[in-house]
Amino acid sequence: MIKSHRAFRKGPIRKRREIIESSGTASKSEKQVRDDFSFTGADGDLLDLAEVMVEQAVGYLGLPLGVAGPLLIDGKEYMIPMATEEPSVVAAASFAGHLLSNHGGIVTHASEPVMVAQIFLEDMGNMGVAGVDAVMESQKEIRQILKPILKSMEKRGGGWRDMDARWIAPSRTLAVNLRIDVRDAMGANLLNSAAEEIRPLLERVTGGRVLMAILSNRSWDRTASARLSVPLKALARPGFDGSETARRIVRAARVAREDPDRAVTHNKGIMNGISALALATGNDTRAIEAAAHAYAGRYGPYHGLSEYWIEKDMLHGSLELPLPFAVTGGAVGFHPVSRWCLELMGHPDAPGLSRIAAAVGLAQNLSALRALVSEGIQQGHMALHARRLAYDAGARGEDISGFAALIRSEEIRSRQSAAARFAQWQLSEGVNDN
Ligand code: MEV
Repeated sequence: MIKSHRAFRKGPIRKRREIIESSGTASKSEKQVRDDFSFTGADGDLLDLAEVMVEQAVGYLGLPLGVAGPLLIDGKEYMIPMATEEPSVVAAASFAGHLLSNHGGIVTHASEPVMVAQIFLEDMGNMGVAGVDAVMESQKEIRQILKPILKSMEKRGGGWRDMDARWIAPSRTLAVNLRIDVRDAMGANLLNSAAEEIRPLLERVTGGRVLMAILSNRSWDRTASARLSVPLKALARPGFDGSETARRIVRAARVAREDPDRAVTHNKGIMNGISALALATGNDTRAIEAAAHAYAGRYGPYHGLSEYWIEKDMLHGSLELPLPFAVTGGAVGFHPVSRWCLELMGHPDAPGLSRIAAAVGLAQNLSALRALVSEGIQQGHMALHARRLAYDAGARGEDISGFAALIRSEEIRSRQSAAARFAQWQLSEGVNDN
């Protein structure tokens, strides 16, 4: 039990760790994990960084950071940083990069980075739907009030775009939507400040009361798209010629458009790449995921986000979704690793990073579908699974590859068998584990 909640909340990070330790909530082996990894090697500066990023920080969870690529996007080669716990994600993006490298790569487009802030009003008495007109008539005044908040964004070419208001009859609520171009930011702080700033004015002109003011994560005004083309013959797999693999990819994508059960998995595969890039660059993965899945339901039933078709001797694929990626603000460009990741990609602006994300999503999807409709995905996973088993059994450094090869050749599947075999292997190889 943690005795002093206040000390835990307010104390420095080391104190917080001590409190956890003395509370008896962490077992010995958990303590060992913490010591071995120091919640992943973080010290000094990094711990301070944790403190300023989240509340009640105790350390870091280190996720692997891989670099996929090169991926040819709009004629330029990119190395793509990806933070993920899932095997095969980096390999899948790299594979597609290789496959497409001689065929023009991926061509992308991004919209302007426009986001929406919402203010909801209730208790509007008799005004009801007439509140829409009252709000729209005060547009000039709203813009005037927002001038100081939007000033620096306007200097960068962003700022006010437009607004609308809508009466939500069933809940007798008035929704006011402000559209603001947030340039390189994700925009949450700016939008929330803008929405809160005009609360008094909206209450005055409608006679209602503000229920809440917050950005909308739907982000449908901030989309990016990607397109690829690959010759059928480049898609040949054992047992399938290229045209057959392509035909099966087209059908698989069509099934994902028609069957929501499959669509969710299909889109999860797309997001494997996009979320890994988002995490590596310090972006808000939840906002990006939420927007993508909402977009997948925009025509009614939830559907797959990508499309494939065959024309002449080429397979074409496309993907479009909201991608509210930022290159500044929040953790982006603040966390040293996210800064490094942005540098690795040549410091794209926010629409540029959204375009890279769309390309990564489509690349990821092509690789997944190609494997799914031919040999399946398990085969590709086995190599990494063997490496994990080897690590789990105690192998470290170069021994991981050596022992993983043995695990595969002997078809060892369980942790227990791997551990028992590792002890024998160490003896036979003369591995010194001191
Ligand atoms: C696994 O993380 C992702 C896949 O399931 C995606 C898909 O099924 O399209 C392979």
